[in-house]
Amino acid sequence: MEQYVIKGGTPLKGEVVIGGAKNAALGIVAAAIMTDEIVTIENLPDVRDINVLLQALSGIGAYINRTGKHEVKICGSKIENIAIDYECLRKIRASYYLLGALLGKYKKAQVTLPGGCNIGSRPIDQHIKGFEALGAKVKIEHGMIIAEAERLTGNHIYLDMVTVGATINIMLAACMAEGKTIIENAAKEPHIVDVANFLNSMGANIKGAGTDVIRIKGVERLHGSEYSIIPDQIEAGTFMLAAAATKGDVLIKSVIPKHLEAITAKLIELGCYVEEFDDAVRVVNTGERRLGHTHVKTLPYPGFPTDMQPQISTLLALSEGTSVVTESLFENRFKYVDELSRMGAKIKVEGNTAIIDGVGNFTGAVVSAPDLRAGAALVTAGLAAEGFTIVDHIEFIERGYEDFEKKISALGASMIKTDAEDEKAVQKFRLKVG
Ligand code: UD1
Repeated sequence: MEQYVIKGGTPLKGEVVIGGAKNAALGIVAAAIMTDEIVTIENLPDVRDINVLLQALSGIGAYINRTGKHEVKICGSKIENIAIDYECLRKIRASYYLLGALLGKYKKAQVTLPGGCNIGSRPIDQHIKGFEALGAKVKIEHGMIIAEAERLTGNHIYLDMVTVGATINIMLAACMAEGKTIIENAAKEPHIVDVANFLNSMGANIKGAGTDVIRIKGVERLHGSEYSIIPDQIEAGTFMLAAAATKGDVLIKSVIPKHLEAITAKLIELGCYVEEFDDAVRVVNTGERRLGHTHVKTLPYPGFPTDMQPQISTLLALSEGTSVVTESLFENRFKYVDELSRMGAKIKVEGNTAIIDGVGNFTGAVVSAPDLRAGAALVTAGLAAEGFTIVDHIEFIERGYEDFEKKISALGASMIKTDAEDEKAVQKFRLKVG
């Protein structure tokens, strides 16, 4: 098991370049197999979730050529198996996109039930409802979801709740269905738009992505494409909050500032200086005054993202006064609070609400990442804390952050990745950074 060792207390300063959006990439990589022609995907993040998905695709016969750290060529013409049951795939939530992609292309798909972060019960009833509305029969057997249809026919689908996963999955299944599909109460996240743009670049006819009504006219076939993935809103937001928590000054480059507005607004409200450029944002916390308190409620886009909830709660735990954070998407997303308390945070969780009494500072401790975003929040806490912090179970963090410790170290922080057994490396680091 690997861990991060952090010596906190250094303000992050400098520039960081944000990678491609993991959650968009998962949908796009799955969609890429829907044509028999070659698809080139650029700005692909080199993170574990993506690598697992590529490995699974290669396992069913797709041609996968990683032509660069951030580029892959995919061809789905040689897929000979529509049953995907890999142990590794159970770890990633987005394995369910293979259902939509394979069902859309071959009218049959068999995929292991998804895993992903343990942040609460994560049903997929809306995905299934969508597939069934298009004419598929869906059953769950031996831990696999099996979907098949003689033909897929467009339909009017009203989603009972705003769901990113179901919106993308239904788009995938519907883009080669016969006739017109309308998805109402669709999710509007930037990566929905990115997956739709990618499918359109392959010849699909999808309109309205980014609004709550998506209209899809089925086409007979999709063709090859070259496509560059949008920047990762959550990676960018994580660095924005880390700059604020460490009283730093960071220029976060290769971003779409519009996608970061909910985070920018909160940082300004708390007392940070945020400057927006065409494709960058600069976050400054001069540290002259402690940041203030606020209320945050996670909501579907354009609301405050649930994937930034642990990071903003960590910042608020260091700010002045009492803040309230309400998690309205996932019921089990405060599991990091006990770990943060070990660093001195004062947070009380009642149901889906955290009441946070800001403390002056954190002190370093050994903590465990419970999931991807909470893990990033614990790293942020460690960067702000006095003394040394060890964050273990970083395999969760590496699911979604590329070269996390390298990017953070380049901003002046003292942070290394070591094997948990390698006490010598930890000792050496402690001696080196004092
Ligand atoms: C995606 C993101 C995840 C993010 C989440 C919300 C990916 C791979 N993951 O997850 O990082 O935290 O969006 O922005 O893109 N729901 C149902 N039935 C369904 C589907 C969802 O009840 O069939 C509920 C969920 O339990 C949750 C809410 O709807 O309460 C939103 O879930 P959804 O947007 O689907 O999240 P994911 O796609 O799993």
